[in-house]
Amino acid sequence: MKVKLKVKRTNPETGQSGYSNYEIEAAENVTALDALIQVREYEDGSLALRCSCRSAICGSCSMRIDGQARLACRAKVLALTRGDENHEMVVEPMGNMPVIKDLVNDMDSFWSKMRQVDPFLQPEGPEPVAEYRVPNETMIDLTHTMNCIMCGACVSDCTVLEVDRNFIAPAALAKAYRVVADPRDGHEHDRLEKLSEYGGIWDCTRCNMCVEVCPKGVAPMNRILQLREMALENGIKNNAGARHTNIFTKSIEDGGRLNEVWMLPGSVGMFNLPRILKEMPGALKMARAGKLPFAQAIPPGFPGSHKMKGMDRVRNVVRKAASLKPKKPEVTG
Ligand code: SF4
Ligand code: SF4
Ligand code: FES
Repeated sequence: MKVKLKVKRTNPETGQSGYSNYEIEAAENVTALDALIQVREYEDGSLALRCSCRSAICGSCSMRIDGQARLACRAKVLALTRGDENHEMVVEPMGNMPVIKDLVNDMDSFWSKMRQVDPFLQPEGPEPVAEYRVPNETMIDLTHTMNCIMCGACVSDCTVLEVDRNFIAPAALAKAYRVVADPRDGHEHDRLEKLSEYGGIWDCTRCNMCVEVCPKGVAPMNRILQLREMALENGIKNNAGARHTNIFTKSIEDGGRLNEVWMLPGSVGMFNLPRILKEMPGALKMARAGKLPFAQAIPPGFPGSHKMKGMDRVRNVVRKAASLKPKKPEVTG
């Protein structure tokens, strides 16, 4: 099978980047990593890439292939090209992390974000007299996050991290869930408070990219949503994210649709005048376009607030959704 590759190269001395094109003959079941190693062995010994296990275990061969972060040792060329020998696979280093050379990223920022969440259990209280017995369902839930191989694919393609380097990012937040949701840890509240600050769980836009690219089914976004629920259950509500969730739900429960007039003050805080004034030009544009109806001037929950027809049915849906929350299992010892 003919394999065409267009590989992004970066010269570590000058910092300049460009693309090199290669064309090789390879076996039908070849992976992108096999193809790149073949290039390095027989075509161009200067090509830098990172790999070890070649079995999707060590997490070291993450790179962007055709625009998406993947483990190169798991990416079958035939599947990617759909058998089209003229398809040119574009191979680039991961995003959101500096490049050392060619396909090798500097992962320092990945590890420092991991360390930011104290990724180890910190039990509280007296030493247990016998072993901890954690319910099976808890361990099954935690297995998702324990499968993480620290490959960095989710961090590479996180859309928030592209615009805000302060974001703790999906892998570290999934790791945070692993310790927060473990009943043996004694710092659930403190951890959730820290995770609710700027750069934490409320900054994810739920774009789903981390779920799509994770090769191990960790689904970091889902873990972030679980952390949000836990934070609310712990009464950690004095932040923009929690307030936004609250006004959003209140708005739907009360009137059946989003109350655009009150969403901003309800989220940033009624007395946060500098922030409200900053958004005024946008709000005026929305008003001119008819997106801030006068009927919504009364805040949700107040007498006379705007209501859609058929509110009983909307409230039934909200009640049903609230009743679907899973119960938290308890630890015994
Ligand atoms: S869902 Fe959230 S954490 Fe995941 S990639 Fe999107 S913004 Fe990043
Ligand atoms: S969560 Fe998934 S994509 Fe992110 S580092 Fe872990 S294994 Fe890789
Ligand atoms: S080489 Fe180890 S995960 Fe790909």
